[in-house]
Parts: sequence; structure tokens; C-alpha cells
Amino acid sequence: MRVRPATQRGGGVLTKLSGREGQPRSAPDLNTGQGANRGVRPAAIEARALSRHFETRAGALPALVDVSLAAGSGEFVSIIGPSGCGKTTLFNILAGLERPNAGAVLMDGADSTGQPGGVGYMLQKDLLLPWKSTLDNAALGLQLQGVSWRRAREEARRWFLRFGLEGFEREYPHALSGGMRQRAALLRTFLARREVLLLDEPFGALDALTRAEMQEWLLDVWAEFDKTIVLVTHDVDEAIFLSDRVYVMTPRPGRVAAEVEISLPRPRVYDKVVTSVPFLALKRKLLDTLGSHR
Ligand SMILES: Nc1ncnc2c1ncn2[C@@H]1O[C@H](COP(=O)(O)OP(=O)(O)OP(=O)(O)O)[C@@H](O)[C@H]1O
Ligand SMILES: [Mg+2]
Repeated sequence: MRVRPATQRGGGVLTKLSGREGQPRSAPDLNTGQGANRGVRPAAIEARALSRHFETRAGALPALVDVSLAAGSGEFVSIIGPSGCGKTTLFNILAGLERPNAGAVLMDGADSTGQPGGVGYMLQKDLLLPWKSTLDNAALGLQLQGVSWRRAREEARRWFLRFGLEGFEREYPHALSGGMRQRAALLRTFLARREVLLLDEPFGALDALTRAEMQEWLLDVWAEFDKTIVLVTHDVDEAIFLSDRVYVMTPRPGRVAAEVEISLPRPRVYDKVVTSVPFLALKRKLLDTLGSHR
């Protein structure tokens, strides 16, 4: 993991940095599983024709049908779709926590279906443990990788300024604002030493202003940590603002209805981007796709 701690940079709570933001990225080619401009490098993570149903009292409930998608190394990909369309189910399968009934998950081209531990995963409603301090919560991702308690805390502490948490190391989660709690959970995920991060609605519970600020901040941190991010959201603006590509899913059973390239230049500044003509055209396109599958 190439990380550059920014504690020495100073600055405000949500310190901005220039980084990879601004560089073009390439989408992986689903047919070959290879990044178009990356020679032979396969997708960092790929869902290949995944289907999943659940056995319920009323019979088999199809949640996902034939879902294929991929994220290239260093890409930011979002998945948007209505509630209940199978986004969390898809993430559980990508993370290896659940097995699909059909299809496969590949990481860097190798089959990882049903194998947990390959990705960093921030669960929807990723709660911090209320009996642990913010520092211990943040260090948990490293500890789960086998890093000693002391070293995990040392490394996590170095990122507190960058994640807008400085001074709250010893506080318990109840003393943090909603945005701070989300950043602490994100820090735990970022520190998990995995190249691919799955973020399931990380900003779902935040108000619009905090959300916009967090989105800008997330892009900066993403650039700095050099990760591949796959993010689930209900929010069309959020998906467009953050992503290199957006997958739109149909209502349950979830299928991929469309894949939309977001070629807005980076770095992206929220107020400028979301009022720009290209952004609004993309928004129209995504809303039309979502609407046509209602
Ligand atoms: N363990 C389970 N047993 C039975 N049904 C399940 C199970 N997990 C999910 N489902 C069903 O599968 C469908 C997809 O659920 P999932 O949580 O993946 O949706 P989602 O897109 O993440 O929704 P939301 O946006 O509300 O989080 C739903 O109808 C849900 O009830
Ligand atoms: Mg969900």
C-alpha cells in the first residue's frame, strides 16, 4: 500500500491535497478483464455473471441476476440503484462473505469467489464499537490484519489530522458528530491494507452540506491512498461527482441496466461540477435510466 501520511501538512479539518486527482483512468475491458490502457493488467475486482437468490417462506427470491461489472486498478466506480435491488448482496458476494448461486468474483484476474479477506469493506451502517475509543476503532482494521495493538494505534494516530479527527483519539464514538463517525469508519477501512475498498452508502446518513464536503474530501483521500474504490449510493449527484464510471441497477432482481462513463475532468470541486452543463447532462441520462426501469 502506498500511503503518505499527511499529519505534517497542517491545514483545516478537511485538508485538501493535490494527488492523482486529475489524472485520467481507464476502464477495464469486461471481455478480456484487462484495463484498456494498462497493458495486461486485469481488473482489480470483477463480478462475472453473478446471480443470487434467497430461500424464503414464499419460495426462492431472486436478488441478483447475471450481474457483470468491474473496476480497474485505481478506478472509482459507483453502483446506483433503488432500495432492495441487491447492492449490499452484491457487495457481500464481492467481499467473499456470501457465495453466488452462479457466476464468479475475480480479483486481479484470479478467482476469489467465496473467499473473504481480499477487500476492505465498509458496511452499510458501519457502526463504531461504542466501548472502544475512536483511536482503537480506527486501528481495528490493522489489528484484524495481524498488526500488533501498539503498532496499529501508532499508524492510525498518524492519520487523525488528515481524517479530521485530531484531538478525538481518546473520545468514544458517542462524542463524535455523524461526519466524524463516518470518517473514523472510513479510516478503519482505508487502513485495512487492501487495494480494493467497497463502500456501502458511506454518507447515507449525513445532511447535504456535510455530504458534499465529505465527497470532496473522499476524492482527495482516494488520490492519496491510491486505492480502487467501488461505492454504493442512492444519490445520483454523488455517483456522478465521485466516479470514473457508474453502473445503474434495475429494481429487484438487480441487473445492470447501464454503464455510464463519467469523463468530467479532475480534480473536481463540488459547487462547480454539480452546476456544470456536462454534469447535468449525465444526471439526466442516469435519471432517465433509473426511471425507465421503475
Ligand atoms: N439473508 C437474506 N435472506 C433473505 N432475503 C434477503 C437476504 N439478504 C437480502 N435479502 C433480500 O434481497 C433483496 C436485496 O437486498 P439488499 O440488501 O442486497 O438490497 P440493497 O440494494 O442493498 O437495498 P438498500 O438500498 O435498501 O440497502 C431484498 O429484497 C432483501 O430483502
Ligand atoms: Mg444495502
